[in-house]
Amino acid sequence: MLRERAAEVLRANWTGTSTVPSRALYPHQWSWDSAFIAIGLRHLSPLRAQSELETLLAAQWGDGRVPHIVFDDAVPLDAYFPSPDFWRSTTAGRPAGAPRDVQTSGLVQPPVHALAAWLVHRADPGLSRARSFLARLHPRLAAWHRYLLSARDAGGAGLAAVLHPWEQGMDNSPCWDGPLSRVEPAEPGTYRRADLAHGAPEDRPTDLDYGRYVRLAADYRDRRYADDAGLGAFSVEDPAFNALLITSEYALARIEDELAAEGAVLTHDPDERRARAQALTGALVSRLWDPRRELFLCRDLRAPGPHGELVAERGVAGLVPLVLPALPPGIAAALVRTACGPHFGLGGPARLVPSYDLTGHAFDPRRYWRGPAWFNTNWLLVKGLRLHGAHVRADALRDALLDAALTSGFAEYADPYTARGSGARGFGWTAALALDLLLDDVRGERAGPSGGEVWA
Ligand code: SER
Repeated sequence: MLRERAAEVLRANWTGTSTVPSRALYPHQWSWDSAFIAIGLRHLSPLRAQSELETLLAAQWGDGRVPHIVFDDAVPLDAYFPSPDFWRSTTAGRPAGAPRDVQTSGLVQPPVHALAAWLVHRADPGLSRARSFLARLHPRLAAWHRYLLSARDAGGAGLAAVLHPWEQGMDNSPCWDGPLSRVEPAEPGTYRRADLAHGAPEDRPTDLDYGRYVRLAADYRDRRYADDAGLGAFSVEDPAFNALLITSEYALARIEDELAAEGAVLTHDPDERRARAQALTGALVSRLWDPRRELFLCRDLRAPGPHGELVAERGVAGLVPLVLPALPPGIAAALVRTACGPHFGLGGPARLVPSYDLTGHAFDPRRYWRGPAWFNTNWLLVKGLRLHGAHVRADALRDALLDAALTSGFAEYADPYTARGSGARGFGWTAALALDLLLDDVRGERAGPSGGEVWA
């Protein structure tokens, strides 16, 4: 039943070349949504899963960035804000190499794509080889990582910085309250939110925060999306964004192994890439690990001090590095303790892992990323728990996710205590990742650390 229902959602959200996250709230192609969706879609149609990633990467900019939204020009302009006439990628984005034939945003989202490409390849290696799927995607994925590791290394420690909450993907997390408080909001009358037509105002970001999102995006556009003009008003090193980048580096190394085995001449040594992923794991620990809270934190690069400062808020992003195979001894165990402790409640009062500290001053079980449980972060935690041997916890979380996905009609997110759904229904990544948990989880990931570098 879950399989059929999830397949129905993915069929209903399929446009012919990619999948929308939600017909109502998010009617275009979103970058990290597409990567998660491809990971589920591979179980239904490896060909569609390949197309999903190909469509997204076809909109890549010349500087390597993969835009966070690829607009469908058949959708009315007022269906989503900020619309193409706000981003003006084909004009303001030209210096950064934005494509001429498709409209996109100029921000990025977490780099889950190489991981997705590797998992999609493995679902049907014959089809993948016949279509040269990896050979065609590899240069684009390599350029994407190069962009993040160079142009976005604002802190100089090797980690990528995000310059907007939408880039990190957890839009309204209390982790951004401090860094955002320095941003002058855009004038209220100068734009019209489209999200409130689809979601209850008490679930969505406030107008004040939304004004700040608009200001940051408009300022970046007005700098013609240049990354070398110094830090913008918001610049943060985030543990989830960087853990996903490191995971995708490992996946890219696996892709390079595969291409080399097929006889391709590579310009990059996959072992060097693996060594770099390990070094980046070290940088993540030295820059973002808080031994007292036993959690990774965000680093606000705009705060006073030579390296900015850590943000004293517990967000689920801080648990996501559990997906990394090469964490120093003790840190994985500490993360599992934190997930199961009072702040995230796994195996205790919470059925699903919340997006923010259950005991935090800003906790709200309904409002966007300020408490509710999201399916993608919970899916990542299932993978991380398995990778580090916490199988009982992983099994229980997997079962709770499958149940919540089905009973909520594949909601966008859910109350962490009751698992009651909120936000959009028929949400793309919820359906896709539920399918993946149903069909892949038990089969592949029990293998343990030998194949742990990309969980397969
Ligand atoms: N999630 C952001 C929004 O609400 C953009 O990706 O529009």
